[in-house]
Amino acid sequence: MRDGAESCYFVIFGATGNLAVHKLLPALYHLDVAGQITPELRFVAISRRDWNLVDWLEYLELSIRESTGDSFDASQFGRFAERFEFIRGDLRDGETYRSLNTAMGSGRAGTNRQYVFYLAVHPDYYRDVISHLNAAGFNRSSGRHRIVMEKPFGVDLESGKSLNIQLHKYFDEDQIYRIDHYLGKETVQNMLVFRFANTLIEPVWNRNYIDHVQITAAETKGIENRASYYDHAGALRDMLQNHLMQLLTIVAMEPPATLDADALRDEKVKVLRSIRPVHRDDVNAHSCRARYTEGLIDNEPVPGYLDEPGVDPDSSTETFVAAKFYIDNWRWRDVPFYLRTGKRLGNKTSMIAIRFRHPPQQLFRETPVEHIDTNWILLSMLPMGCMNIELNAKQPGLGMDTRIVPLNAAYHEGQEPSLDAYQALLLDVIEGDRSLFIRYDEVEWAWRVVDPILKSWTQDGDHVPGYAAGSWGPDAAHRLFDSEDHEWRNRF
Ligand SMILES: NC(=O)c1ccc[n+]([C@@H]2O[C@H](COP(=O)([O-])OP(=O)(O)OC[C@H]3O[C@@H](n4cnc5c(N)ncnc54)[C@H](OP(=O)(O)O)[C@@H]3O)[C@@H](O)[C@H]2O)c1
Repeated sequence: MRDGAESCYFVIFGATGNLAVHKLLPALYHLDVAGQITPELRFVAISRRDWNLVDWLEYLELSIRESTGDSFDASQFGRFAERFEFIRGDLRDGETYRSLNTAMGSGRAGTNRQYVFYLAVHPDYYRDVISHLNAAGFNRSSGRHRIVMEKPFGVDLESGKSLNIQLHKYFDEDQIYRIDHYLGKETVQNMLVFRFANTLIEPVWNRNYIDHVQITAAETKGIENRASYYDHAGALRDMLQNHLMQLLTIVAMEPPATLDADALRDEKVKVLRSIRPVHRDDVNAHSCRARYTEGLIDNEPVPGYLDEPGVDPDSSTETFVAAKFYIDNWRWRDVPFYLRTGKRLGNKTSMIAIRFRHPPQQLFRETPVEHIDTNWILLSMLPMGCMNIELNAKQPGLGMDTRIVPLNAAYHEGQEPSLDAYQALLLDVIEGDRSLFIRYDEVEWAWRVVDPILKSWTQDGDHVPGYAAGSWGPDAAHRLFDSEDHEWRNRF
């Protein structure tokens, strides 16, 4: 909380949803247990279920039990639960916001309270909630109000712009926290350190040494009863336009002048502005979409996307997307950046894989070494934070044979605790630190990059090819490669 603030209300719209239950509530609980949030902080949970506070608290307990497992502590939970109010109400109904006003106590004006409004709801509701918050006086005119928006911010370039205009009617930019939880991951922040604190790395971090970059976010999960959201979003809007683009900017950005929020974001925007536009005729060569059909995950049969509950049988939503981009600047010109993400893939992994060029001299041509592997740097965020550098070394013995020697470092040593991304970001919201949140121009430029692909898919019609659940996506994803010796890197 900022200095001088008397108390803070943290309001969760959509408190019974998937995001709240699996991410937000556990993160807030762990912050509370760790003593990182002030006792003055109170929570208001809002959803449309016909529930009272007792029903809500039972539900909250289930969420916290699931996240804490055997270490659930009833007295700690009791202290956390005491902080909650529950409001049953529809987001489109002004009465909900009057109830909110009452729940937070009257006489707000003139007080020194802070208010955080977390929109953990379907993006279709954003406009309604923003207008109602304005009508109820919960915006800039009445003090310390912050609004947290989840991705995707809009569904394309135009809707993103128009949402932003509406948001800015009522809120100033410094009140808006556009969240991308990838930026809260310590391993993602570690990339800045890896790049800019190691003299060894920065001189080779360019087109002279790097052959190509791959960024992968693969899930084994399907859509988990989230058809009402996912079937309107798809992999490109849900993951590539935001998370993968953010990772791309962190790999490709120039060193910022300082680590302050705007210096970092200025550099990220420069990268996005330098991405070569994908023209209509090139969309097929630069992107590939598909959706999962039935298959096996962990040896268990799983249904195809069209058979998931709530999915429109005529859906043309993709659950896999791969795309290739070039960054037209001195550092990266003509280095392909391959991005891919999908559900129901062979493994759960988030990884940046950087492949280096072959050495200029074929020194080992006349020896038994027939083939020298290129060097790779691998930065993994999931399933665990790790860095790996693959080097060639001589095999022990008389002959001249080589093998790959991995220099592998886990991000966490021993029992070092890891901070969940949402814990870090929610604490930042409460404390008013926007460094790890997305500025609007980042969103807009990311939409500019992917918009031609979306438009082309819409014009091309509804046919979306399939890939078997449990595979690594469609074979067609290979057509993106610039060279025959490029292939997707699936293992760390
Ligand atoms: N789930 C994730 O892991 C995840 C990750 C990143 C971002 N996001 C973003 O987070 C947002 C929420 O996603 P989600 O997966 O949590 O969605 P969800 O599971 O469908 O939850 C939606 C929530 O909104 C409430 N709600 C829906 N319509 C309402 C209405 N008319 N009035 C009042 N409350 C209403 C629901 O209440 P009831 O339960 O009472 O219906 C529920 O609490 C989306 O913008 C999504 O893009 C989600």
